[in-house]
Amino acid sequence: MSIDTLLSLEGKVAMIGGSTSGIGEAIALRYAEAGAKVILLARNEEKLKNTLSMLPGTGHQYLVTDFKHPELWEQSVVDLLQSIKVDILVNNTGGPAPGPILEADIDEFMEAYKMHLVCNQILTRAVVPGMKELGAGRIINVISTSVRQPIDNLGVSNTTRGAVGNWAKTLASEIGKFNITVNNILPGPIRTPRMDQIINNRAQKTGMTPAEVEDNMASSVPLGRIGEPVEIANAALFLASSASSYISGTNIIVDGGRTRTY
Ligand SMILES: NC(=O)c1ccc[n+]([C@@H]2O[C@H](COP(=O)([O-])OP(=O)(O)OC[C@H]3O[C@@H](n4cnc5c(N)ncnc54)[C@H](OP(=O)(O)O)[C@@H]3O)[C@@H](O)[C@H]2O)c1
Repeated sequence: MSIDTLLSLEGKVAMIGGSTSGIGEAIALRYAEAGAKVILLARNEEKLKNTLSMLPGTGHQYLVTDFKHPELWEQSVVDLLQSIKVDILVNNTGGPAPGPILEADIDEFMEAYKMHLVCNQILTRAVVPGMKELGAGRIINVISTSVRQPIDNLGVSNTTRGAVGNWAKTLASEIGKFNITVNNILPGPIRTPRMDQIINNRAQKTGMTPAEVEDNMASSVPLGRIGEPVEIANAALFLASSASSYISGTNIIVDGGRTRTY
């Protein structure tokens, strides 16, 4: 197989959560460039239309989905999948609000579990029957390096990410026999609107300027900089492609070396 064919997604259908901004949007663009037909998921229809208009190629579509209210769109996904089989599912959505764990309300935990764990489960159960018929599938979860090492001031996020990591490992064990791989991408600091929110929150708490917070953050990364969304998208392309055919149940950390564990 040529190198080009190895990374091609020609003829594949990819459903991508949170794909109108940051990491999810970069993955949608990368997959469309690689030849996939993309189904975008997010809440805001204007942003969905805007991202759709940026995708190279044809046959892409979107579904308005608020992960805080899966009961509003679960049936639409099932209906869509009557006529389309998804080869690649990327579970991704907005991150939980920052803050110390002791200050978190119960509702914040419930919401984060719903958006990350419950919606992953709903989408996975919807696409796996089609993947079984296809004889192959890829499930890629965008989580966080906090799966390996909790991050200060991200109490609800740290907790939820650990649950998603174990959910993914369990799933990988169950569905490997159908030639469906399940892997996680653990991003470090990546320059997206979500990152701006974290930087501004930290600046308010510490009295530093946002630029100082960003410099501090970059200095904790061995590569000395904050990453770009396309650097996550490249890992997601690898995991979606034939190049990763024997990789399942694992984490790929894309953080410039920041995590101090293996
Ligand atoms: N950026 C980083 O440095 C970093 C590091 C580690 C982990 N992560 C994690 O990676 C994921 C993506 O982060 P990002 O930085 O790309 O975030 P982002 O730029 O804020 O993008 C979030 C995306 O999710 C969608 N979204 C938000 N809330 C949603 C909801 N309730 N239902 C459905 N869609 C929703 C947004 O679109 P709508 O608002 O239109 O719905 C948008 O498309 C998050 O879980 C984040 O915590 C990010």
